[in-house]
Amino acid sequence: MEELAIVKENIKAAHDFFEKYTTALLKHPDRDIVDALTLKREHSLRVSKVSGLVATNLMLEEEDIILAELIGLLHDIGRFEQFIQYQTFDDQKSENHAELGVKVLKEQAFFNEFAEEKQQLISRAILNHNKDAISLKDDKMVMTYSQILRDADKFDIWETCVNHLNRDGSFKIDAISLSLPVTGLVNEEIVKSIKNQKQARKQDLKSVNDFKLMLMSMVFDLNFRVSFQLLNEKQLIKKLYDSLPKKDTVIDAYREIRLYIENKFVS
Ligand SMILES: [Fe+2]
Repeated sequence: MEELAIVKENIKAAHDFFEKYTTALLKHPDRDIVDALTLKREHSLRVSKVSGLVATNLMLEEEDIILAELIGLLHDIGRFEQFIQYQTFDDQKSENHAELGVKVLKEQAFFNEFAEEKQQLISRAILNHNKDAISLKDDKMVMTYSQILRDADKFDIWETCVNHLNRDGSFKIDAISLSLPVTGLVNEEIVKSIKNQKQARKQDLKSVNDFKLMLMSMVFDLNFRVSFQLLNEKQLIKKLYDSLPKKDTVIDAYREIRLYIENKFVS
């Protein structure tokens, strides 16, 4: 069998695994667990789709595009086991969900059918997705797939958050904004990160406003022009900004972010 046909067959087996694995877990008797896992299942499906879109735009080969989609589909597989075991998506309070995901995959028959080098590639990209930055020790292919996944993941986080915004600027589900208080305050550390064109740090989050600014600062870790295009088309950063109080610090931070995005289109 030629290589593309083998990859397609393995990928079909991977999709079947995802379907079976998640469907079985969604029969859990606890409603809260089912709700949380449903969100992750839908997130995985959307990240898979956007990963394919980004990969297509990068003019990758058909085999590479479906591999990018597969990585998107499987990147959060550890979330399911994590939530069932610990009832949280907080890695600090449980364990690293990317590492847990790779452990789950290595136990699956379909995964072991992939050539060793593909197994490595999938694992490395998943392990890179929730790090502050991609490991520079990785080779070019791993870097590319990791970047595609990180862009697609961010895009879905933005879209989900924006879709869950209430008119008053709060989120429909408290857990989205990490149950942070609605105080009207903005932490200077967050603004400092944005001025330095760095993604704001989770440990600096003190309010829902900080959380929104942190979301906006994720543009500094966006990799591809197509990702900026998608972001612009949906006006996701603008919608987050519109939900914030118009303090000078917020206006300045938004200006910095907007300029950064605009520069991506002229450079
Ligand atoms: Fe994740």
